[in-house]
Amino acid sequence: MTDHASTGFLGRNEFLIRRLHSLSGLIPVGAYMVVHLVVNASVNNGAMTYQKAVDQIHSLGIVLPLVEWLFIFLPLIFHTVIGVMIIQGGLPNTGRYQYGANIRYTMQRASGMVAMVFILFHVLQMHGLFHFEWWLDAVVRPWGGARFAPLNATSTAAEAMQQSVVVSLFYLVGILSCVFHLANGLWTMGITWGVWITPAAQRRAGVVCLVFGIGLALVSLGAWSGFTMLSDEDIKAARQLEDRRIEERVKSGDLDLERDGHKRAGHGHDESAVSQGDAASE
Ligand code: HEM
Ligand code: HEM
Repeated sequence: MTDHASTGFLGRNEFLIRRLHSLSGLIPVGAYMVVHLVVNASVNNGAMTYQKAVDQIHSLGIVLPLVEWLFIFLPLIFHTVIGVMIIQGGLPNTGRYQYGANIRYTMQRASGMVAMVFILFHVLQMHGLFHFEWWLDAVVRPWGGARFAPLNATSTAAEAMQQSVVVSLFYLVGILSCVFHLANGLWTMGITWGVWITPAAQRRAGVVCLVFGIGLALVSLGAWSGFTMLSDEDIKAARQLEDRRIEERVKSGDLDLERDGHKRAGHGHDESAVSQGDAASE
């Protein structure tokens, strides 16, 4: 082990920080990712299924940003910052694990870096990170970010992911990196927490994590193709369905466009080529 005395606060608290880093990868970040991928894969059941799932999440209203920051963004930022420090060697770790020379050790780090770049791009492109209008107008929208409109969930998510071939492929690489990182991370977690110690136990755990990883990779491919394989016609049809639902919700008093109009497609953006044809129907 390295001499911790010279590494300051992080070095002195290495044990606790590593445990928190490890835990945050599973709960809440890993758990969120699994649920998120399953919800997104539900688009394969049709635009209305996905719209209903998104409406349910957004029914949290003003509490949603609080939930997002407490349970998603802050743990993810913590996990990322500590992860980058581990990669850069800022936390003493030399010779700690038997799998140190293993290719999976390197891939865990490489997939973490890809995940970092992907998630940053993805959140800015879909969500915008913050919902202050000045932030969205000055920083995010000029390059085409904050594209996801929760009231037009399928059509705007599909448009965002089909922004260009490069973006679609980047999504594919990013999503699969996240899946590998979680599945392999589950296995390394068992070592961090001393759950599988013997080589035989580690081999068995490896099989379980592999099966989990393949299952989640299939779900994520379902989510990816569910949005990227929609044709322009499919996206137009989804937009019409979503707009009809908006009208019905407004009529029934369930939706107030004075308050939630900014969650509709086109708000703050020029309508995309795909949806221009529908502008007249609004
Ligand atoms: C998609 C979101 C992410 C999830 C679900 C996730 C999950 C995990 C899990 C479960 C572990 C295993 C912890 C352990 O071995 O005890 C882990 C390890 C790790 N993560 Fe992440 N992570 C994510 C994003 C990131 C990002 C963006 C980075 C930034 C570079 C990162 C860097 C690392 C590193 C370096 C390790 C290895 C730590 C070690 O060797 O002890 N992760 N992650
Ligand atoms: C095909 C796969 C994916 C699709 C279709 C997708 C779609 C979306 C959409 C539409 C949003 C905006 C939600 C909103 O503003 O209400 C979002 C947000 C987000 N996504 Fe993804 N996503 C995918 C994969 C991932 C992966 C692998 C991660 C890794 C952890 C991830 C992390 C996030 C985060 C952190 C947010 C912001 C928090 C939130 O709004 O829920 N996404 N995603």
